Amino acid sequence: MAERPYIVGNWKMNGTRAMLSEARAIDRAAQRYMKAEVAVAPPYTLIHAVHREAEQIGVGAQDVFPGEDGAHTGDISASMIADAGAKFVILGHSERRADHKETNKLINAKIDSALDAGLRIILCCGETLKVREAGEAEEFVLKQLKASLPQIDDAAERLTVAYEPVWAIGTGKTATPKDIEAMHKAIRQLLDETYGEETSAEVRILYGGSVKPDNAREILSIPEVGGALVGGASLSAESFLGIVVAAS
Ligand code: G3P
Repeated sequence: MAERPYIVGNWKMNGTRAMLSEARAIDRAAQRYMKAEVAVAPPYTLIHAVHREAEQIGVGAQDVFPGEDGAHTGDISASMIADAGAKFVILGHSERRADHKETNKLINAKIDSALDAGLRIILCCGETLKVREAGEAEEFVLKQLKASLPQIDDAAERLTVAYEPVWAIGTGKTATPKDIEAMHKAIRQLLDETYGEETSAEVRILYGGSVKPDNAREILSIPEVGGALVGGASLSAESFLGIVVAAS
């Protein structure tokens, strides 16, 4: 299994230049807690500025256009965010699947564009409360992943999966340790079948959904949890570092 837990802050649509001081504080502190790999995904408008501040932490994006540069007013390509300093992109996030009606086909085109631009992928999956309560969560999540896991030889270097139960995002509720372990083990089995056990073992499976400093240590100790994808708690250096410390 990958050595270092991966703690990623998804800033979502939050962040003016005032956030650069938080990024600086995260970066400086991360240099002391080297066990965890730390990264943030600011809005497009801050990618380059955060990249310029970052000596230790990785910088990523929250979306890319599914195609090459060109006459697409208002869109931003994978090569452009790579040029701005991003090293990864979060794709398939439930908020984009809902807000922008993103289909697996569109997500796959974005994955291809991001991989072609040399970016690493954090591929999100997760069930709604209705699916969870129907007892169909595992079937739903594995179907989502089967539709989008890229057929690549270098998944160990390029791919991270993030399991984020939709009903736990921004709600203060997390999945139970038992449910998290069961889902992560099911995802690991699919990764084993898709990439072979040796490569699969290097693909970290992050948990996301109301991860906070006070629950991070328990969540990160669950088998097959290789880190966290953090929303709200990543917007302040203090709370985000509380999670980084829990991983260290
Ligand atoms: O991508 C991470 C995000 O969806 C989790 O949000 O605020 O529940 O930590 P939050």
